[in-house]
Amino acid sequence: MFLCAVLAAFQHTTVLASEAVDALALRPDGTYVDCTAGGGGHSARIAAELGPDGRLFSFDRDADAIAAARAHIASTAPAAPVELVHAPFSRLVEELAARGVSQVDGILADLGVSSPQLDHAERGFSFRKDGPLDMRMDRDSGASAADLVASLSETELADVIYRYGDERDSRRIARAIVARRATTPFTRTADLAAVIAAAKPKKRKARGPQVHPATKSFQALRIATNGELDELDALLHSALDLLVPGGRLAVITFHSGEDRPVKQTFASWAKGPALPPAQAIYSSHGDPLVRLPHPKGIAASSAETAANPRARSARLRVAEKLQ
Ligand SMILES: C[S@@+](CC[C@H](N)C(=O)[O-])C[C@H]1O[C@@H](n2cnc3c(N)ncnc32)[C@H](O)[C@@H]1O
Repeated sequence: MFLCAVLAAFQHTTVLASEAVDALALRPDGTYVDCTAGGGGHSARIAAELGPDGRLFSFDRDADAIAAARAHIASTAPAAPVELVHAPFSRLVEELAARGVSQVDGILADLGVSSPQLDHAERGFSFRKDGPLDMRMDRDSGASAADLVASLSETELADVIYRYGDERDSRRIARAIVARRATTPFTRTADLAAVIAAAKPKKRKARGPQVHPATKSFQALRIATNGELDELDALLHSALDLLVPGGRLAVITFHSGEDRPVKQTFASWAKGPALPPAQAIYSSHGDPLVRLPHPKGIAASSAETAANPRARSARLRVAEKLQ
């Protein structure tokens, strides 16, 4: 009964479910990490493939996601050897070491936020539903979006909104935020969304679904609040050392700010490390560290994007560590 309530409250449709799990080329006795358990969609599929000697560590920095993933796995693969870890994936090395694990056979990360984080107004991610201006994936630590909006200078705010949201009107928006907060601090999402919408130049209505004018700014503030690109950087720095030869890293990204570092890092691993000039006699690079089984990445099928519009921007990239 309790499991049903947890599952009912956390509705997330897993993106690239079978593609991501296939990409790991699972072995029943292997040790795997799901960096982003969310609703447990990918974790449950991995867990179902593992035998008694396999292991899965499923991380999430959101306590609600940990509870949902636990309930999902308990209902689909109750005997599976899975441990849920409430921690950011930047702490992968330390958390695994604390469990006696220094090498794994596969790592999956399905980046960004889950649907419940966006949909539940009290989490403060939504510009459509009013809630406290929070946006923290881990509600127990770190500064909230309200703290950020209150403390960044106008230039810093504009830079965040431009860099992480690709928002052309970042300077106008930052100016409007700073002017408004001089009299009343921002504490609610709807209030901030309204100020952003008013700051943007009015456009003629385009055909098709209307994009809310605060979409890009909210994405940017969410990324900054959660240090998402630093987290990704930390993952990319630690993943290769954690993998056994033949082990695979699979990453699903949802926007260019996430996809670019993954694509560039994988490409540099596939090229091999740059050699110092004295050693660069026949080639400027050493031996490749990985092979890329899908050099262009994998996108969702048209059937999946029709059923789940969130899958439209998803791209799965896979690197396999060489001997
Ligand atoms: C897209 S959802 C994952 C959905 C999951 N794959 C599924 O099938 O249900 C992303 C999840 O990653 C978590 N997350 C994002 N960044 C994280 C980080 N740096 N460390 C740990 N968890 C993170 C979020 O809290 C969210 O629950």
